[in-house]
Amino acid sequence: MAEIAPSILAADFANLQRDIEMLNASEADYIHVDIMDGMFVPNISFGIPVCEAIHKHARKPLDVHLMIEQPDRYLEAFSKAGAWGLTVHYEACPHLHSTVQHIRQLGVQPGVAINPHTPVEALSEILPDLSLVLVMSVNPGFGGQKFIENTYKKVATLKALKEKFGYNFKIEVDGGVNLDNAASLIQNGADILVAGSFVFGSANPTATIADLKNK
Ligand code: DX5
Ligand code: ZN
Repeated sequence: MAEIAPSILAADFANLQRDIEMLNASEADYIHVDIMDGMFVPNISFGIPVCEAIHKHARKPLDVHLMIEQPDRYLEAFSKAGAWGLTVHYEACPHLHSTVQHIRQLGVQPGVAINPHTPVEALSEILPDLSLVLVMSVNPGFGGQKFIENTYKKVATLKALKEKFGYNFKIEVDGGVNLDNAASLIQNGADILVAGSFVFGSANPTATIADLKNK
């Protein structure tokens, strides 16, 4: 069994409060909030005021995924906007150690995300400082993409490192997650599954969250 973080990116933005209340009443453990800047990734999603508005209604922790360049500029603002966790991209942070310490100083759980081409081993020196490691199972920027199978191997490698050194971070998988791959991801060591289009595109999102949760 894993924790589930439905991605609000796939919600109906004209009915955000309704969709957040659905998540509040569901078995979701977090609300995954995807921030895209049109630079680090080709797409633009939404920013700080919308994150604040989500926080106003959410009764689940906000797992904020920053797909932005130079995220240091906005850590404090997203912390004030209600983030429980702030995940930055390895590929966007030349001073990752300093960025991670900054997030922790703000009283927020620090996470680092890696793109499909980035090896898990690139994080070896920062793993002890992290609460979350987010393994991208699609190229970031859009919901509704196809799951990349190589992700299983990366999750298993992370899990082995976690056990070998006794680290505490949670392993999160993001992109193309559905009922076909959830069980294998959990077997390989995933602790948190992010799911956007699979949840919000289903006939009964509440039941779909429960199905993922019970895998
Ligand atoms: C992709 C985002 C994901 C996305 C997942 O760039 O980081 O969180 O919302 O959406 P699905 O589950 O549709 O792949
Ligand atoms: Zn995400």
